[in-house]
Amino acid sequence: MFSELLKILSLTVLVSDYARLCPMNCKFCLTGLADCTHVSSLTTVLAGIPTSIDKILLRGGPLTHFPAEAFRNFSQLKVLSINNFPLSSLPEHSFALAEPNSLTELDLSSNLIRGCGVEGAAFAGLHNLTALTLSGNFLGSLRTPWFQPLANLEILKLDNNGITYLQPRIFENLLHLKKLNLSTNRMTYVSTDTFFGLRYLMELDLSSNQLMFVSGDSFRPLTQVKEIVLFRNNLTSLPSIPKSTTTLHLHTNPWLCSCVLVSTITALKVKVMDPTRVTCASPAEIERHPVLEVYHVVCNTNS
Ligand SMILES: *[C@@H]1O[C@H](CO)[C@@H](O)[C@H](O)[C@H]1NC(C)=O
Ligand SMILES: *[C@@H]1O[C@H](CO)[C@@H](O)[C@H](O)[C@H]1NC(C)=O
Ligand SMILES: *[C@@H]1O[C@H](CO)[C@@H](O)[C@H](O)[C@H]1NC(C)=O
Ligand SMILES: *[C@@H]1O[C@H](CO)[C@@H](O)[C@H](O)[C@H]1NC(C)=O
Repeated sequence: MFSELLKILSLTVLVSDYARLCPMNCKFCLTGLADCTHVSSLTTVLAGIPTSIDKILLRGGPLTHFPAEAFRNFSQLKVLSINNFPLSSLPEHSFALAEPNSLTELDLSSNLIRGCGVEGAAFAGLHNLTALTLSGNFLGSLRTPWFQPLANLEILKLDNNGITYLQPRIFENLLHLKKLNLSTNRMTYVSTDTFFGLRYLMELDLSSNQLMFVSGDSFRPLTQVKEIVLFRNNLTSLPSIPKSTTTLHLHTNPWLCSCVLVSTITALKVKVMDPTRVTCASPAEIERHPVLEVYHVVCNTNS
């Protein structure tokens, strides 16, 4: 009887604690994570979340923009995720916190963010950021100043953004970048200095674009790269592939099987994934033949 009463009492305390620590549309605040859905006013929701929290997830609602420095009071925030909003712009100092800025992961995937709506200094102050996800927005084009403060960034996801072109040296300041995902965009070519400065990059994904040409020395700065993903593009020839590469995805491209190309790919044989799907589109006699099976045909080794 008494213990029952105690149970009810402690439960009431817990529930009221929970209510005090978390706004109505958020869960789990007691665990250090605020997981909020149906966010219609950022200011109201943030005012209800304890400032000592280290993770905030905001998932869905009618927000179209948010004020600069909205997160200022969360001095221990490490992970911030803002997804599925009709959010199209980011003001300067969007993610300013107390210095030093503690944010390490920022996920802004699946909003409606446009490149022209993102201020140059939108990511200012994020020196501790190691992962930035911008997948599934409408960036279209990128601006060099966005990336300048992110000296510790290791993972950058820019897939599914309708990106048509990358300006030379756009990633120059990302000295610690290890993974770069540019899959599923609309790029048709990659110029010489695009990847300048990415000397520690391990993984580059350029799949599902419309690449017709990648400048021969584009990948030269990538001296540590392990994996290069080029499938589903319009490539007829191959740029030079750094020696460090262990995994190369080349399928679903209209390869022009000259002796030079076939020799190059044959020399990289052990690194090529899905080799039977890496096929020639021309010359006509060997259309649809795997590149790795036509060396003797195109290089005329009998003469
Ligand atoms: C931060 O906290 C101060 C003091 O509690 C408060 O006056 C201010 O409105 C808060 N700022 C934001 C952006 O919530
Ligand atoms: C963030 O970076 C600063 C240096 O810019 C550093 O002093 C600090 O310890 C880092 N970590 C956190 C969690 O703030
Ligand atoms: C890049 O992003 C796409 C999603 O758009 C994903 O399927 C792919 O696995 C990612 N690439 C790498 C190398 O992780
Ligand atoms: C790339 O190839 C696809 C499929 O063959 C084609 O539909 C598309 O028009 C090509 N893109 C360019 C830019 O040539």
